[in-house]
Amino acid sequence: MPETKILITGASSGIGAALARSYARPGATLVLWGRDAPRLEAVAVECRRRGAAVMADPFDLRDMAAMAQRLAKCDAEGAIDLAIFCAGLGGIVPPDQFAQAPQLAQAMAEVNFTSPVVGAGIMSGAMAGRGRGQIVLVGSIAESFPLPMSPVYAGSKAGLAMFAEALAGRMTPHGVAVTLVSPGYIDTPMSQQLNKPRPFLLSADRAAEIIKRKLARRPLRIVLPWQFIWIRALAMLLPRPLLRRILRSA
Ligand SMILES: NC(=O)c1ccc[n+]([C@@H]2O[C@H](COP(=O)([O-])OP(=O)(O)OC[C@H]3O[C@@H](n4cnc5c(N)ncnc54)[C@H](OP(=O)(O)O)[C@@H]3O)[C@@H](O)[C@H]2O)c1
Repeated sequence: MPETKILITGASSGIGAALARSYARPGATLVLWGRDAPRLEAVAVECRRRGAAVMADPFDLRDMAAMAQRLAKCDAEGAIDLAIFCAGLGGIVPPDQFAQAPQLAQAMAEVNFTSPVVGAGIMSGAMAGRGRGQIVLVGSIAESFPLPMSPVYAGSKAGLAMFAEALAGRMTPHGVAVTLVSPGYIDTPMSQQLNKPRPFLLSADRAAEIIKRKLARRPLRIVLPWQFIWIRALAMLLPRPLLRRILRSA
């Protein structure tokens, strides 16, 4: 198997941790980022047990300067082949409020949009210089739905989706693939907090398996589970006012 260097943000939990485990094998170097040091280290230990070389670095992705410096250093020490920006922050507006609390709104915008956009931009330059590489942005199926209960989450993910498609257009001629991953409900701490039905729920390990298999084909977009491909397509066919009314009543 060829040597591969893979960066995964949000590797201390959920989908990111499952992706780290699924890519862990002899010959793989994993750079794992998250905030919670003990949880991140537990994932690193599991990945080393599977034969990967692992560098785990706990820090807050909202510190853009720290992220930019780490990315540049990490890539200079050995070219990153695959950069997966998976970290994300969920949040629903409490029923007795009109909008997300300002601090949480800012954190969600930074973690879900600004940080992956800045990170992917840095990786784009490095990878284009080599004429190869793959950038993965983990969005959400929420990017296609104007969700009244979580406007910041839906908006930040919609922005990320547009960024991913636009960046793909710019990077493809330079040999760099850009893929947007749009998950539906995946059984992780983020969705466990929702306290509502989670149709077509997938485990994080199953989601990672699907994402990894599909990423090998370097597609523009991955929607999972498959049922959401159809739900999204049908929703896009609905007149917007009707879609908004359905979402309001749901
Ligand atoms: N689960 C779902 O149903 C679902 C559906 C659609 C999209 N997604 C997307 O999938 C991605 C992964 O989510 P998940 O379900 O695996 O959620 P999760 O289990 O809550 O994991 C989120 C990850 O993001 C990291 N993170 C959050 N804020 C951070 C910050 N400021 N700095 C550094 N790292 C930070 C967390 O680190 P710490 O835990 O160490 O703080 C954690 O590793 C997210 O982008 C999410 O929006 C999930």
